[in-house]
Amino acid sequence: MPKVRIYDPRGKMEAEGEVPAGTNLLKASTELGARHGSACGGVCSCSTCHVWVKKGFDSLSEPEDAELDILDKAFDVKAWSRLGCQAELDHAEVEYQITEESEKTWYDEHPKERHEAEAKGLWPPKK
Ligand code: FES
Repeated sequence: MPKVRIYDPRGKMEAEGEVPAGTNLLKASTELGARHGSACGGVCSCSTCHVWVKKGFDSLSEPEDAELDILDKAFDVKAWSRLGCQAELDHAEVEYQITEESEKTWYDEHPKERHEAEAKGLWPPKK
């Protein structure tokens, strides 16, 4: 099973573990407990699952045209950007960083956790 290491938008490691090959990055984040947003529920129509792949980019499944079209709508797209709901793991170790856009979406989708983070002064993050 490929090892996955996930970083938050500020570069701090948020989660790590192993998931089965064939798992997409969004599902890996969910299974490992990372705050990875997905406004469309993982059907390649919103771009909020955008991540920057730091290691193992070439081991991921090839992006299809639909992913590239949606990725164009994301903020701060880089050559190493992927949509988490579309990029599937092979057997190689992969590291990726959840974007600010995606983390914000996750908090919007999880109001209880957002209120707790606000109460602790953890959200919104200090710049
Ligand atoms: S969750 Fe909407 S495009 Fe991936």
